Amino acid sequence: MMNITFHSSGRVFHLQGCGFSYISMILPNGQLGQLYFGAPLADRDGFEHMLVAAHRDMAPCPFEGNGDFSMEDIKQEYPVNGNGDLRNVACVIETPDGARNADFRYVSHEIHSGKPKLAGLPATYVEHDDEAETLAITLQDDLLRLQLILSYTIYRDLPVITRNVQFINDGNSSVILQRALSTNLDLPDANWDMTEFTGAWGRERHPQTFRIHIGVQEIYSLRGHSSHQFNPFLVLKRPHTDEFQGEAIGTALVYSGNFLGSVEVDNYHVTRLMMGIHPQGLAWTLAPGEAFQTPEAITVYTCDGLNALSQALHTLLRTRLARGYWRDRPRPILLNSWESTYMQFDEAKLLPIASKAHELGIDLFVLDDGWFGHRDNATSSLGDWVADRRKLPDGIEGLASKINALGMQFGLWFEPEMISKDSHLYRAHPDWMIRVPGREPLQGRNQYVLDLSKTDVVNYLFEAMSAILSSGKVSYVKWDMNRSITDVFSQGRPREFQGELLHRQILGMYALYERLTSTFPKVLFESCASGGARFDPGMLYYAPQGWVSDDTDAVERVKIQFGTSYAYPISSMGSHVSAVPNHQLMRVTPLKTRADVAYFGTFGYELDVNAMPDDEQRQVRDQIAFMKAHRELIDTGTFWRLISPFEESEVGLQQGSEAAWMVVSADRRHALVGYYRMIMPLNEGYRLLKLAGLDPTATYRVHDTQFPLPASQFTYGGDELMAHGFDISDTGFGPFTTDMYQGDYLSRLFEIDAV
Ligand code: GLA
Repeated sequence: MMNITFHSSGRVFHLQGCGFSYISMILPNGQLGQLYFGAPLADRDGFEHMLVAAHRDMAPCPFEGNGDFSMEDIKQEYPVNGNGDLRNVACVIETPDGARNADFRYVSHEIHSGKPKLAGLPATYVEHDDEAETLAITLQDDLLRLQLILSYTIYRDLPVITRNVQFINDGNSSVILQRALSTNLDLPDANWDMTEFTGAWGRERHPQTFRIHIGVQEIYSLRGHSSHQFNPFLVLKRPHTDEFQGEAIGTALVYSGNFLGSVEVDNYHVTRLMMGIHPQGLAWTLAPGEAFQTPEAITVYTCDGLNALSQALHTLLRTRLARGYWRDRPRPILLNSWESTYMQFDEAKLLPIASKAHELGIDLFVLDDGWFGHRDNATSSLGDWVADRRKLPDGIEGLASKINALGMQFGLWFEPEMISKDSHLYRAHPDWMIRVPGREPLQGRNQYVLDLSKTDVVNYLFEAMSAILSSGKVSYVKWDMNRSITDVFSQGRPREFQGELLHRQILGMYALYERLTSTFPKVLFESCASGGARFDPGMLYYAPQGWVSDDTDAVERVKIQFGTSYAYPISSMGSHVSAVPNHQLMRVTPLKTRADVAYFGTFGYELDVNAMPDDEQRQVRDQIAFMKAHRELIDTGTFWRLISPFEESEVGLQQGSEAAWMVVSADRRHALVGYYRMIMPLNEGYRLLKLAGLDPTATYRVHDTQFPLPASQFTYGGDELMAHGFDISDTGFGPFTTDMYQGDYLSRLFEIDAV
């Protein structure tokens, strides 16, 4: 279903999406009111009675003699400062006289098929116009001659509504945008739990759920990147909603810089969900004739639980946000040098690793940090993107040729947005660093941030990176970003510019990505920011995969990948098998467990394969063959979360003791199930693992990929596997047991095939 109707009698817009209705109206004062967002409603005239307004003491009212109509308690599409709405609003504009009032009234609207591009910003797209319909409503503040265009797109096949806002200054004087969020949703009640995805370095995107309350609850970043601390994505769900049933709304921002996600419950229990660029520090001067485009916000609606919500986002992000040559292609299995050599390497050390990796079936060798300038540690050389001939006598091209000659692709690490003080670049262009003149800039990891609001800087980076990529021998780039942005000031720029810098920095980064990805369309880009500090929808538009976390421990990775899966498709999650003891935690987990976790991602290795004993090398060879055989299922199948590592499990095991997930092929004939048992209990009750997403009428075989258990002899109905499950009991008893699965940090991987 996909239909947008305007009912002129009641001046009502009805967006009938795939599985939801969204209804708004032109209010008596010309502004836009929000009426409904929820389960699908049949279209008809007469929804305007959904507008509720009542007399509230002290509420400011626009109509003399009518105390019943106030923006203070009316649900709105895009609340603006100065209209009597005294809650947090979506937009604050300072006018030339210093006032902070605006009054946008309906002028016109357009409904058309397809979805226009957003200038300079990443956004979801369509391949054919019949995939989506767009409503663009133009409002105007007559005094300022400032236009506001609210755009909404609904997709034919996905329960999604995307929104963005454009400001156009048609007047004669400048205004300053101090707050210009991308979306606002006013929901009529407050009976919601909120889930945010929070963490820190090494433990990104752990879900945290709480009951919302009167007042404001926020997620945000003020770090100049979307951050480890919060992801630009939040979920509101009904208290009884779980993974498999119930109503939920998820909103994500397609943006990689400072953001705000705010959920405010007002004193009449209206829940206002807003998301957009964080207003702190923003002061964007919009001169006559200029336009300002907000990032896009994506909102998903479901009545069918959190898995359904995630699945809709996965499809949208994987097929209509990610782009380019690699979007639908099987990604290469890579070996990244970081945890095997760190910065202490030379060609003689790298080539044997690459050679063994190739022998085991790895497609791509990635050289991480340390190859340029004279970078032996993190104190120097960022900005000098020229090979260090001490380590690589024949340069990058020479090394890449040798790797290519082995039959492997070659990939390279860059951190384009950064500069070291100890670099030729800094000595030549000290003014390219973001810093406040007269103050000692803060450093992070001994490095500083380049000012990408300057075209010269973007041009320099494009040239420096192109010089390496144009050899044609580098087929992958890991694009890192390892410090937050502080000392926000663009040297040599006027006062008015400074409040624009952080957003212009992101626009500059996007412009550089756009130029590089379009000039080198076959190069695969993977984004990274000290692990997953910039794992957001904006990056997916340029880089179809991202490094999820620097924490490569299998136990921790289950949690991080599980949390990340609420919004992001597993095909976008960079996941590697690393050495034990693990370099972050010193934990020792079996090689099988490490691979069983990494399979549910892009898959690769981050260790010295030559340091592995022969039997482990054989296992690696088998793992690679397994991944190649299952890659299509993993990349394109439907992902289901089954058992959360963040909750006490159904059989009473403490939180984090076990977890499970699965991926099911589009035709539902094949599935792969990962079950992770972190802590082994002794002599527990019987254990059944219930599956999801199968064809209830089909018959399946269940095959444990490690041990052909008796279970493999049976066949099961799809309905049975989903309603009852299959037996995975393992009771323990040490040396006396016949169980093959004993100990902690174990995993089981099941192939489910229709017979
Ligand atoms: C960051 C990345 C790592 C690695 C190092 C190199 O921490 O997340 O994967 O590339 O930088 O310095």
